Amino acid sequence: MKKSPTTRSIVIAVDGTAASGKGTLAKKLAAHFHFAHLDSGALYRLTALAVLDAKGDPKDPADALKGAQSIDLSLAGDPAIRTDVVGQAASQVAAIGAVRQALLDFQRSFLASPPGGSPGAVMDGRDIGTVICPEATAKLYIDARPELRAHRRWLELKGMGIARDEAGLLAELNARDAADKSRPISPLKQAPDAALLDTSDLGIDAAFAAALALVSTKIEGALKDRHRG
Ligand code: C5P
Repeated sequence: MKKSPTTRSIVIAVDGTAASGKGTLAKKLAAHFHFAHLDSGALYRLTALAVLDAKGDPKDPADALKGAQSIDLSLAGDPAIRTDVVGQAASQVAAIGAVRQALLDFQRSFLASPPGGSPGAVMDGRDIGTVICPEATAKLYIDARPELRAHRRWLELKGMGIARDEAGLLAELNARDAADKSRPISPLKQAPDAALLDTSDLGIDAAFAAALALVSTKIEGALKDRHRG
């Protein structure tokens, strides 16, 4: 069988539902192991922003592909991509096969050669452990009760100065998860070898401790193997 391009680096794949805490956990895991981190959702959000800025339709394959081909990675930290309007549009462009294909190489190259010469990478998203890197060293699937996720999103948006009602956010979040789980291409699902972590009743520190406990044996083992050469 042909070897996948990511087999030489150590990879932690973190998938899960919207606002489940996967991004925070992925960042913390990356910092802990001194690995590179990529939030793959930002690629879909940047695509959506490019489409919306161009007054295109995120559901239109031609508009969406043009958006994916014109993303500006320097905007990945821009709060403009974090709004729920962009989140909904991201979910729409993400259902289009040509968009996913256009973003695939970037993600696989990141994993194959993590920036900064790091021995490994942590990537969070919806299809990292199932499609982007099925051979990942360790996989997590993060989830939490929808009401709690909506509350976290409400707090996050409030911090950004965006006032939203929680019931509306909950409805949007449920609709986005349903769309992400039911799309025919790269649907959100737990990989058979991913460890499930429900963060509903956990604060950030406890959730991180749990995530670390679930991946550390595999990651420490892979790091030791690398040092042995
Ligand atoms: O994780 P985040 O909420 O930023 O993702 C925005 C949208 O991008 C998701 O709802 C999903 O439709 C899409 N996405 C995806 N595959 C990924 C990451 C995100 O389809 N690997």
